[in-house]
Amino acid sequence: MAKRTVQGKVAVITGSSMGIGKATAKLLASQGAKVVINGRTESRLQQAKQELERAGFEVLAVTADISTQAGASQLITETIKRFGKIDILINNAGMSARGYFEETDPEVLERMLQINVMGCLHPTKAALPYLETAQGSVVFVSSVAGIRGLPETGIYCATKMALTAVAESLKVELSDKGIHVGIVYVGITENDPGKRVIDKDGSYLLLKDRKQRNTQKPEEVAQAILRMVEKRQFKRILTLLGKLNAIANVLFPRLVDWVLIRSKEKIRKLNT
Ligand SMILES: NC(=O)c1ccc[n+]([C@@H]2O[C@H](COP(=O)([O-])OP(=O)(O)OC[C@H]3O[C@@H](n4cnc5c(N)ncnc54)[C@H](OP(=O)(O)O)[C@@H]3O)[C@@H](O)[C@H]2O)c1
Repeated sequence: MAKRTVQGKVAVITGSSMGIGKATAKLLASQGAKVVINGRTESRLQQAKQELERAGFEVLAVTADISTQAGASQLITETIKRFGKIDILINNAGMSARGYFEETDPEVLERMLQINVMGCLHPTKAALPYLETAQGSVVFVSSVAGIRGLPETGIYCATKMALTAVAESLKVELSDKGIHVGIVYVGITENDPGKRVIDKDGSYLLLKDRKQRNTQKPEEVAQAILRMVEKRQFKRILTLLGKLNAIANVLFPRLVDWVLIRSKEKIRKLNT
């Protein structure tokens, strides 16, 4: 597939006031795209907007909760009002949760499905007519935790696996419409200070700094997303661990079960 540049394209990146979304917005903007950034917290989003504008990039910031139909519709409407088109939608906004299923509050399960699944479906639905006109791209940001269910993050795994089904179905349904569909399985990535995850009782936990040898940088994930859009790739699994996870689950599923059962207490401690 010939490489398409993002120069002059309009890219909407959900959940882009920090972390991977912000790094992706920065990278796409540095390649000549007009970027639309989004988040729920106005102050953090404005900070990100100023940072991008100081670098000389064209940026629109839309404060909206994209897990709701109204929020997603606001994001797309404001983008069209400002730029008149949408070429790229990166469904990046998402949250992680901690805790075994049996101890997790049902409200947390619903909230996770709302943010991570509906938070991709609503923006995609609202953007599709514009993506068709532009013959554009929609990319889903999944996780290597979306390849197989893991202990302690089961609901997160479930929401990210759901994105595989959505992307696979869309790829076929949209095959005659010229819209590129992509899904990227991201490995453990360095987090910005202030990254929160949802605890089993519904409260927020501040994630510890994960600057360690085996983590990727948000900028590396952003590069993978850019390449996916440029080359109109469908699936990419990032990190060696992610690739091994995918292969082992196909070839040796019972061995993977055995390893996870033996290490579940260690995984639990790592996550607390
Ligand atoms: N970091 C990792 O190790 C890792 C690994 C695999 C996959 N991923 C996936 O990569 C994506 C980004 O992760 P990250 O670590 O960069 O996240 P992050 O640092 O926690 O940032 C999340 C961003 O999404 C926004 N957001 C969350 N819920 C939202 C909502 N309902 N509506 C609008 N914006 C919302 C947040 O802003 P507000 O809170 O202000 O709304 C923030 O801008 C997620 O889908 C995540 O599951 C991350």
